[in-house]
Amino acid sequence: GSLTAVRGRLLWFGDDPFLTCPSKAVHYYEDGLLVCEDGKITYAGPYESARNAVPPRATFVHYPNHIIMPGFVDTHTHYTQTGMIASYGEELIEWLEKYAYPEEMKFRKKEYADKVANLFCDELLRNGTTSALVMCATYPQSVDALFEASNRRGMRLAAGKVLMDRNAPKELLDESVEEAKRQTEKLIDKWHGNGRSVYAVIPRFAISCTSEMLYAASELWKSRRGLLMHTHVSENPDEIAKVRCLFPDADGYLDVYKRHGLLGKGAIFAHGVHLTLKELATCHKKQSALAHCPTANLFLGSGLFSLRDAKRRARPVEVGLGTDVGAGTSFSVLALMNEAYKIAALKDYPVDAVRLFYLATLGGARTLRMHKKIGKLEPGYEADFIVLDPEATPVLANRTRKSEGRIEELLFALATLGDDRAVEATYVAGRLVHNRDKKKSGPRQ
Ligand code: GUN
Ligand code: ZN
Repeated sequence: GSLTAVRGRLLWFGDDPFLTCPSKAVHYYEDGLLVCEDGKITYAGPYESARNAVPPRATFVHYPNHIIMPGFVDTHTHYTQTGMIASYGEELIEWLEKYAYPEEMKFRKKEYADKVANLFCDELLRNGTTSALVMCATYPQSVDALFEASNRRGMRLAAGKVLMDRNAPKELLDESVEEAKRQTEKLIDKWHGNGRSVYAVIPRFAISCTSEMLYAASELWKSRRGLLMHTHVSENPDEIAKVRCLFPDADGYLDVYKRHGLLGKGAIFAHGVHLTLKELATCHKKQSALAHCPTANLFLGSGLFSLRDAKRRARPVEVGLGTDVGAGTSFSVLALMNEAYKIAALKDYPVDAVRLFYLATLGGARTLRMHKKIGKLEPGYEADFIVLDPEATPVLANRTRKSEGRIEELLFALATLGDDRAVEATYVAGRLVHNRDKKKSGPRQ
């Protein structure tokens, strides 16, 4: 089988630093060695004590001063919006109608979907993202295109067709609840557990789904083990008001989903910017997770998510970070950390680098219920990892020199100044799938 060994600064999280003291949550080896065989990690620890245990047939790469950590997990994005990212001037509802829906209609054509799916997966890997939860279009072929592209690259991706049967252009809507159910069942059979793929049942949001469609989504979600449920909640004030009109009996936005059996372990809600403390307590109680999407929330002027409220120690909610392309403005999870810090700062809650990188790795893996397989560098875990370059740009290199090797300072500089340029290499299941400098010199041997 394939054998890969990499040497550098090893970093990962064993636990949630929002809940335990950071020194307990962090695993760090200044001069570490990571060994993987057949896609799984077999050793992670000090280089000195294991250097002689690396078999001579292993592909060995030394990344001096680089940080090797689990691949980033993007807990909410739309591959179908890759083409209209950076579209000007509207808030959520108008932005959907003017930009997002017209673009998604193009995914009826499989060739178009294939082209974007390949671009999208390559872009994830170039940014150090090895797993993601992705919304596709209504059309089943848009799901085929994405899983074909991610399976070809060996990635652990979760995705599904969006369910929507009202309040959008007719060409984009499901023909009926029954037809949407049939299509979803077929996609689950085809893709759930195919390679590393996970199927997610995705009622787009309460505005685009009738009550019947929401019930159908709940039934589909519970039809097989390990399926995820993914939707949007409480992103924008106009959206919330509209949901109140559409579901006058419900006790707020989250309660619409609760009444339809859509809360529980494996449910992931994107945004949740305006959730009340009571709704956050419900998320905790129902073990439902949130995808915090800072660049999208700023770009659409939706509001400022409160990490402090979500992560209250007495009733913490699982939170991951989401790029939410194309409302989000970057594919980079480092860029998400940068904006998440600023949003938290505006809420008088400066989040340290340890917490930011936790959200981007193990926090994301927990959000997607993949934390027993990815998100740590421990023996038995799947070998999805990245190599970050703290000297990627002149300013970053200068800042890194001033931090004199203090790892937390270095991580904070990477989170604030980093983007795709800081990702030197990406490995999926122990295989090198992105190598930033390949045109120049290849990885240093
Ligand atoms: N709510 C429903 N659909 C969408 C979408 O495509 N993007 C965002 N940001 N919010 C949504
Ligand atoms: Zn979204």
